[in-house]
Amino acid sequence: MRGTCLVTGCAGFVGSHLSETLLTMDHRVIGIDNFATGKRMNMSGFLAHPGFIFVEGDIRDGERLLSPHVADAPLAFFHLAAVVSVPYSLDHPQETMAVNYEASRALLRLAERWGTRSFVFAGSAAEYGDVLSLPLSEDAADNSTVHLSPYGQAKYLASSAIGTSPIGCSLRCFNIYGPRQDPTSPYSGVISRFMDQALAEQPITVHGDGGQTRDFIFIEDVVAAYLLAGGISGDGPCHGIYNLGSETSTSIIDLARLLVRLAGSSSRIIHGEPRAGDIRHSLSDTSRLQAMGFFPRFSLEEGLGSLLSARRAELAVQS
Ligand code: UD1
Repeated sequence: MRGTCLVTGCAGFVGSHLSETLLTMDHRVIGIDNFATGKRMNMSGFLAHPGFIFVEGDIRDGERLLSPHVADAPLAFFHLAAVVSVPYSLDHPQETMAVNYEASRALLRLAERWGTRSFVFAGSAAEYGDVLSLPLSEDAADNSTVHLSPYGQAKYLASSAIGTSPIGCSLRCFNIYGPRQDPTSPYSGVISRFMDQALAEQPITVHGDGGQTRDFIFIEDVVAAYLLAGGISGDGPCHGIYNLGSETSTSIIDLARLLVRLAGSSSRIIHGEPRAGDIRHSLSDTSRLQAMGFFPRFSLEEGLGSLLSARRAELAVQS
């Protein structure tokens, strides 16, 4: 075993991919998840791995739950557990602040006390609020930013605390997509929803005119960025705040058309009401992370192709 890494949210979409990759690289992984949105099934490929220790519980109880498993200073602490739904955060502002901000700060302090080399946090493009000037550089969020949700505000506060710690790094992620992203809620990522609609030959539901744009990044590129930020690969660890995106703008209507084509689907594209609270455009400037040696490897078409194969295989097993 090469070193111990902690992963909060190890049963979630990104956390499960990251845990799996760390184990493949021969690291010992201590993972924690309370299954609020994570799923045991996401860990099926590594739950029985001899290098994996799973702790079921809430990160607000992190010190009590994790300490018994940590003997020496961990190599890296990847903190991805969070209230992940923006609409949920609007209905539960206090819980969102307690989990996404206060517990994050407490885990950072714990990692510092343990002598952990790096603490990498899942920041979010939501930290920027609704800004007019694109692409977004990291300086576009500051204490005067008006956040559209408690989710965005809590992530901003946590990133600010973590970004100024000597061991801290926040990756402000734009729109991540890939296998294991849950497509079942109306608030699931647009790609997971469109993909399942296309594969089921159901209408693809675009909110509004589809002219809104997003910056999509594939899960494998996201995992690579986490490894770099945590000093597991490359010249890291990285310290401070970094955007993590593809620097590519794609409209939602173009995305729908591309998916229909790649899936060979006969789904119609239909337009509904614009979604309340939607921002119109979002695009990253990732020069800061590029300077650390990070460049995404997957184009949108390549990432969607890979997701399509994975999703088809998953649906075949389920049926
Ligand atoms: C994303 C994040 C969110 C973060 C925000 C920050 C995801 C899943 N969510 O929200 O956590 O706070 O960035 O900027 O990555 N759409 C449709 N049809 C659908 C579903 C969505 O047209 O069935 C549209 C939406 O109206 C939106 C776009 O697709 O305009 C993207 O939606 P979504 O995937 O939910 O992500 P964001 O709203 O960008």
